[in-house]
Amino acid sequence: MKKQVSKTTSTEGNIEESGLKTLFIDELKDILWAEKHLLKALPKMAKGATSEELRSSIELHATETENQIKRLEQVFELVGEKVTAKKCEAMEGLVEEGKEMMEDTETGSLTRDAAIISSSQKIEHYEIASYGTLRTLANTLGLSEAAALLEETLEEEKNTDIKLTQIAESFVNESAKAEKE
Ligand SMILES: [Fe+2]
Repeated sequence: MKKQVSKTTSTEGNIEESGLKTLFIDELKDILWAEKHLLKALPKMAKGATSEELRSSIELHATETENQIKRLEQVFELVGEKVTAKKCEAMEGLVEEGKEMMEDTETGSLTRDAAIISSSQKIEHYEIASYGTLRTLANTLGLSEAAALLEETLEEEKNTDIKLTQIAESFVNESAKAEKE
């Protein structure tokens, strides 16, 4: 087994110099941009939804997203960094693709909802991966308060993903199957 090369987790001084800390901050900036970008897109997705269930679930997620942004700002504060957002190419692409998928489906159809659910889940999975990594890095760096805040958001994102699956499987997919192209 390869020997562990470096260990920079124990003291504040070490954390300051750690490349992992820099990676952590960069990832924070990325997800902050991603959340802000998503927050702007969510009202359009809610408006485009056919079913009340999907619309209200997206609206709830918009409120959650506002809180998630506040939590990220708290994390920046906890680690003594200026709140900064750095463009996230992935989220820009995911949102753009979601918009295209919506435009390719009929207004008022449940195929439209299936498309919105699909793109929303791709977005959620990106966020779940990001917050999972951030939470783990925060723990590794000994930033337990930051880790707790990131964990809270991670759980919210997972619940959103589960809720989207439930909406798809409870009626959207079956009803969409009967729709003509
Ligand atoms: Fe989020």
